[in-house]
Amino acid sequence: MCGIVGAVAQRKISGILIEGLRRLEYRGYDSAGLAVISPDNSLHCIRTVGKVQVLDDAEELSPASGTVGIAHTRWATHGKPEERNSHPQLSGKNIAIVHNGIIENFQELKDEQLAKGYVFTSDTDTEVIAHLIHEQWQADGKDFFSTVRKVIARLEGAYGLAVINTDTPDRIVVARSGSPIVIGVGIGENFIASDPSALGQVTDRFIYLEEGDVAEVSRDSIRIYNGKEKVSRKPVRLHLDNDEVLKGNYRHYMQKEIFEQPEVIRNTLSGRISKSHVLEKSFGIKAQEILDKVKHVQIVACGTSNHAGLVARYWIEGVAGLPCTVEIASEYRYRKVLVPENCLFITISQSGETADTLAALRYAKELGYCGYMTVCNVANSSLVRESDFSIMTFAGREIGVASTKAFTTQLAVFAVLSIALAKRNGLSAEDEKKYVDDLNQLPLIIEQTLALDDAIRELSHDFGEKHHALFLGRGAQYPVAKEGALKLKEISYIHAEAYPAGELKHGPLALVDADMPVIAVAPNDELLEKLKSNLQEVSARGGQLYVFADTQAGFQNNAGLKVINVPHSSEFLDPVVYTIPLQLLSYHVAVLRGTDVDRPRNLAKSLTVE
Ligand code: M6R
Repeated sequence: MCGIVGAVAQRKISGILIEGLRRLEYRGYDSAGLAVISPDNSLHCIRTVGKVQVLDDAEELSPASGTVGIAHTRWATHGKPEERNSHPQLSGKNIAIVHNGIIENFQELKDEQLAKGYVFTSDTDTEVIAHLIHEQWQADGKDFFSTVRKVIARLEGAYGLAVINTDTPDRIVVARSGSPIVIGVGIGENFIASDPSALGQVTDRFIYLEEGDVAEVSRDSIRIYNGKEKVSRKPVRLHLDNDEVLKGNYRHYMQKEIFEQPEVIRNTLSGRISKSHVLEKSFGIKAQEILDKVKHVQIVACGTSNHAGLVARYWIEGVAGLPCTVEIASEYRYRKVLVPENCLFITISQSGETADTLAALRYAKELGYCGYMTVCNVANSSLVRESDFSIMTFAGREIGVASTKAFTTQLAVFAVLSIALAKRNGLSAEDEKKYVDDLNQLPLIIEQTLALDDAIRELSHDFGEKHHALFLGRGAQYPVAKEGALKLKEISYIHAEAYPAGELKHGPLALVDADMPVIAVAPNDELLEKLKSNLQEVSARGGQLYVFADTQAGFQNNAGLKVINVPHSSEFLDPVVYTIPLQLLSYHVAVLRGTDVDRPRNLAKSLTVE
C-alpha cells in the first residue's frame, strides 16, 4: 500500500524523506511527493508521477531546504496516478497532508465542503481531509493538535495520516485508524512513518501508535491521545538490518529471496525442533495452554498466505487429525460464521498489517474462539499485537511484492505446529521422529532443488509468448499449483489458473490445445497414478505438458511432455519442495518478458486498505 514518512528536525530533511520513501517504495509506486515547511514558513511541495527517483530528480532541481516535512509514495485507490492526485494534498497555503487508507464517507464530506466553496483539484478522498482541517483551523486557530483531532472524529474508514501546518511550523500531527503509523524517536529530532523500515537510517527506537491514537510530534516532545484520554506508549528498540535490504549479486529482490529459502527455513525451524521432536516450549506458555484445548482449527488469510493455510489444512487434518477450515479473509469478515467448540483461530500474514486479515481477526474476537494465533513475519505488527500468541516466520524482510520465502517459512511453521497438535492426538514418539527427521532434511533438499535454476531458465523460453497457462496438482499439491499460478500471473502478467487435476474433465479441459501450456506437480505420492491418468487427458488433446516430477515417478520426456526432475523428498514436505521450481519458473518467465519483477504493476506489498 502507500507509504508515509515525515521528520521534525534541526537539519535539512528532504534527503531523509526521499530515502525513507525509497525504502517504502515496495508498498506503492505510482507517484510520490513531499511537502516541507521552508525557512520563510511557506510550503515547498513537489509531486511527481512514477517512482521515487523521479521525485528525487525533481527535488534536485528545486531543493527543499526546510527541517519539518512529510512525504508519500502512492498506490492509487481514488483517482488515477496523476500529479494532481499525488500526495501531499493541500488546502489553502498552509495545510499539507499525506494519507494511507480509504475514507468511506468522503463523498458526503466533499459535498459539504463544495457547498462551502472549497475547490477540489484532485479525485482523491484525501483532499477532503485537507479542506476539513483547513476549515476547522480557520475556526479554532489555537491548538492545531486539537483541530486535527476534531476533524478525524468525522472520518469513517481506514487511515494512517500525517499533516503539517505552516502556522504551527514545528510539528507534525499523525493519526492511526486501521492503517499503521509509527513514531521514530531520535535525539533532538523525531520522525514518523507508516513502517519502521523507512526510518532505519535515522533511528532504532519506535513508538507504535495503537488504533485510534492521534499524536503531535515535535523535535523534543511527543503527545499522544486516544479519544479524549492522554496515553503513553513505550518505545521499542528494533534492529533494522540495512544490509538485509541490499540485493547483493542478485538481479532482483525476488531472486535473492528465492535463494535465501534454505537459510530462512533453517532459521524458522531452529529452536523449534530437536533431532527427534518438536520443542513446544519455544511457542511460549500461553500457546501451550491454548493448544491443549484445541479440537478444531479455523485459518483465515489472503493471497499467498491463504495458500499456506490451504496446505496447512492437509497437515492439520492428515497429521494432527483435527478438523480444519480455511477461508479468504475478505470473505470471512462479512459472513455469518458458526464457530465450533474449542476452535483455534489462526491468521497468516507476511506483513501482519493486511486490512482484511486484521478485520477478520477482530470479527473473530467478537464471535469467540478458544484462542487467537498468528503466523507472521513482522514482529510488533498489528496481527502479532492483537493475537494471543504468534509463531514468527524468520524469513527476514521480504521486499519483492511476490511472496516467496514468506510462504515457505509459513509452511515450515505449520509443519511444526501440526506435529505439536498431532502429539496431543496420540502421535507416537517414533512417528514424531520421522516427521522431525524430514524437517531437519528440508533446508538441504531445498538447496538441491534450487540447483534446477539453469534448467528452469532454459524452460522459461517456452512461456515467453504465451497468454495463458494451467497449473495442476492433487492433494496438498493443489494449493502449491494455486501458488504457482498466482506467482506467474503476478509478475509475468500471463493469465494462469490452477485446478485439482481430477477436476480438469469437468470443464477446464475444453481450454486445452497446443497453445495452452499445462504445468503439473507430480511428487511420488499416493495420488501419483491418478495424476498420471489426468495428464493423459491433456496429452490426448494435444496439450503441452511440463511436469515437475519426483525422480522415482517414472515420467519420460516426449514431444508433448517435458519432465523436470525434482529431488526426492518426503510426502509430508513435498508441498514446500515443489513450490521452489514454480517460483523459479515464474521468475524467469517474468525476466524474459521484461516486467518489473519486484514491483509488478497494480500491486503493493502490504495491503492496509480493504
Ligand atoms: O502480508 P500478507 O501475507 O497478509 O499479504 C497477503 C497477500 O496480499 C499477499 O500474499 C499477496 O497475495 C502476495 N503479493 C502474493 O505474492
